[in-house]
Amino acid sequence: MTRLTTTIGRLTLKNPVICGAGEQTMTADAIRAALASGAGAVVAKSTNESTAAKEQLDKTDYVLLDAQWNRLPWNFQPPAEASLFGRSGLVQRDFEEWLQELALLDREARLQDAYVIPSLILSDLEQCAAFAQRIEQAGLRVLELNIGAPHGEEAAKGAIVLERGAARIEAIVRRLREATTLPLWIKLTGQSEDVVGLAQAARRGGADSVVMMGRFMGFIPDLDSGLPLLGTSAAIGGAWALPLTARWVMQTRKAMGDDYPLIATNGARSGLDVARFLLAGACATEMTSAVFTGGYGVLSDAIEELETYVAKRESTVSELLGSAADKVQTYQQQPSREGWWEQFAPKCQGSLA
Ligand SMILES: Cc1cc2nc3c(=O)[nH]c(=O)nc-3n(C[C@H](O)[C@H](O)[C@H](O)COP(=O)(O)O)c2cc1C
Repeated sequence: MTRLTTTIGRLTLKNPVICGAGEQTMTADAIRAALASGAGAVVAKSTNESTAAKEQLDKTDYVLLDAQWNRLPWNFQPPAEASLFGRSGLVQRDFEEWLQELALLDREARLQDAYVIPSLILSDLEQCAAFAQRIEQAGLRVLELNIGAPHGEEAAKGAIVLERGAARIEAIVRRLREATTLPLWIKLTGQSEDVVGLAQAARRGGADSVVMMGRFMGFIPDLDSGLPLLGTSAAIGGAWALPLTARWVMQTRKAMGDDYPLIATNGARSGLDVARFLLAGACATEMTSAVFTGGYGVLSDAIEELETYVAKRESTVSELLGSAADKVQTYQQQPSREGWWEQFAPKCQGSLA
């Protein structure tokens, strides 16, 4: 046990920094690089049985944008405020070959006190359940299932299921729960009015943890060409997403209690962001865009930064978990603020003194 040790239900991670699923976890070498950075776990780029989802990978494109939506160079040194806009597809390899490789990598991870976690994206539920069974038989130790991928609505019908209905989520998770005894992490969409309700549904179905929350879909007109940037709508993420994710994490903790483990994704760019998610109630944080655009050193830097933060407070990750969420107040509980008008008066209008 160290200061950074965290528990996610029945699982213990050496630290709460997880390399999330994406192109930076799509090959064996990439996963080894993420493990070498010291991450507590590495989630492999997702797969499913859909040919259309695999074909969509060939249509992949991304652009990094500054705060004025101008293109930034892809030079692995993105500024903290960079947004990543893009579309992607799923791993194109044969399932069994992919599975055996991940099982081997997870055996290597075990020697580093870490995990390699396979990730499925829902297409056909029965096929998904069969894959889950095979994943357990192959010796892998955790399964992540993403039912909230933002691309669901743009992809070919059924290729990537984006689920927003609580009843359906409960039924999907229940079917997966029947198929495997592995710790089951369900990754949810953020494009819902009620992410808390989706998390509760996943728990009722038997999820060990929920990963919240998927990115949003966006549309960016390009001023030079007058055309849609990248030609389509696409998923958008950035540091600005952190407060949106953190609020759902906080609200889910409040609704579901402090004994149900929540994992954050969407918005973390540094170790201090992992600390922010920790204080909001996430016992671990998945980092994807920051690693994809900044390199695997982002993970080791994040671990070091988090360690410094926790040590300075002479505390531990488990002691700090949810500490800000547990103190959140209502507007009505706030004291009346004398002098607020003088401080914030709309002098911007010029005509006011
Ligand atoms: C290029 C790219 C590829 C991604 N591929 C997957 C994937 O295969 N499976 C998945 O569950 N999430 C995938 N994601 C979503 C990320 O894992 C993550 O949840 C999301 O980007 C928000 O976190 P971030 O702010 O750390 O990037 C991908 C994200 C990006 C940017």
